[in-house]
This record gives sequence, C-alpha cells and structure tokens, in this order.
Amino acid sequence: MLQLKFEERFLSVDFVNDKRNYLKLIPKGKQELIAKAIGLNKANQTVIDATAGLLQDSILLSRLGAQIRAVEKSDLIFALIADAYKRGQEDHACKLILSRIAIFHDDAYNFLSQLKLEDYPDVVYLDPMFPENKKTALPRLEMQIFRKIVDVGDDYERILQMARKKVKSRVVVKRPLKGAPLSSGWQHQIKGNTVRFDIYPPMGISANE
Ligand SMILES: C[S@@+](CC[C@H](N)C(=O)[O-])C[C@H]1O[C@@H](n2cnc3c(N)ncnc32)[C@H](O)[C@@H]1O
Repeated sequence: MLQLKFEERFLSVDFVNDKRNYLKLIPKGKQELIAKAIGLNKANQTVIDATAGLLQDSILLSRLGAQIRAVEKSDLIFALIADAYKRGQEDHACKLILSRIAIFHDDAYNFLSQLKLEDYPDVVYLDPMFPENKKTALPRLEMQIFRKIVDVGDDYERILQMARKKVKSRVVVKRPLKGAPLSSGWQHQIKGNTVRFDIYPPMGISANE
C-alpha cells in the first residue's frame, strides 16, 4: 500500500477497510442533503467531481447511483487514490462502486475547458479547500497534509466559471456553512449542519448576478 509520510505520520488511502471515510452506512440526513444538492432524483446522473481529493465524495455519489469522472491535480494525492483504486478492484462490493468512477490526473480548469459538447456532464461538483478556521482544533490529518502539499490559492472562481459553461444542469460548490460564496450568480443554497451547497445554473441562464 502506498503511504505518504508527513511529520512522522503516514497517510494512505484504503476504500475497502477505512469504513469511517468510505463504506460506512450513509446517514439519512446526509443522503438527503447531497441528493438534493446534486439532483440525484434522475437515475445515472453524470457528475464531474473536479476536485476529487481522497475520493470520499465521489464514492458517496457513486453509492447513491451517479456516474462520476473524478479529476485531481496534485501528483501526490492522485498517486494515493490511484493506488487505492487499483486495490479496490479486489473487493467485489468496492469494485462495483468504482465501476461508476473514472479517475483523471489533471487540472480541473484544463479538463473542463477541453470537454466536447457530447461529454458535458449533468453536474460539476467543486469542493475547494476551505479557508483555515483558526478557532477550531487542528483539522484531520488529511486536511493538514492537503494544506502542505496542495496549491490552496488556486483560482476556483475561474474553474467555477468554466464549469458553468460546460455543464447541462448545474454546478454545485461545497462551502463552510457560513463561508462566503465562491462567486455571485448562485441560484439556490442547500444548508446542512456544517456545510452548505451553492448551486449555480449553467452559464447563460439568468440568476442573481
Ligand atoms: C477539499 S479537497 C477535496 C476533498 C474531496 N471532495 C473528498 O471527498 O475527498 C480539494 C482537492 O482539490 C484538489 N485541487 C485543487 N485545485 C485543483 C485543480 N485546479 N484541479 C483539480 N484538483 C484540484 C486538491 O489537490 C485537493 O485534493
């Protein structure tokens, strides 16, 4: 198993045995929230998870029936998920979930800008790094590592605008409950206890801009 060493601690990704982050029972509230945000009422919704990270959201969405293309820019994070993806094929249930996820090592803006009309997804999902909250306890190990190795200052607004040009139904941006929106132009907000999903229409449809 591939391991990333960070200040004497190790990060690895294991979809099959890491029940806390991957294959645990999905609480009904969480299921309803994400289903509403993504619009999972239609079968086989196609989703581009443009900031795939450790693939937790992609796996959740696949378990809820969506077809995912997951894009990750960081070499190190991508190496971790590619390794877990390969090992996940050996477990029957996990293999089925992964059969609805394709992973791409690319920059979200680049990936989206090259999409042809016939490849536009129903939904683009963006989960940018949250701004650091100085008041909370230290974030989970994964988040501490992300902050060290990932370009947190990426231009997510630019990615959002490109996503809105390359999507059929909506762009969904995950934000901290009280965080500022990435950009104006959102149409709805769906709020959970700690996070919020801002929903943007495809470019060209008028909203609060
Ligand atoms: C908060 S994490 C996403 C966590 C993910 N939703 C999950 O469930 O594991 C943000 C991720 O976006 C990636 N990222 C940042 N900028 C990116 C870009 N321009 N293109 C693709 N991925 C990007 C980072 O490397 C990081 O892994």
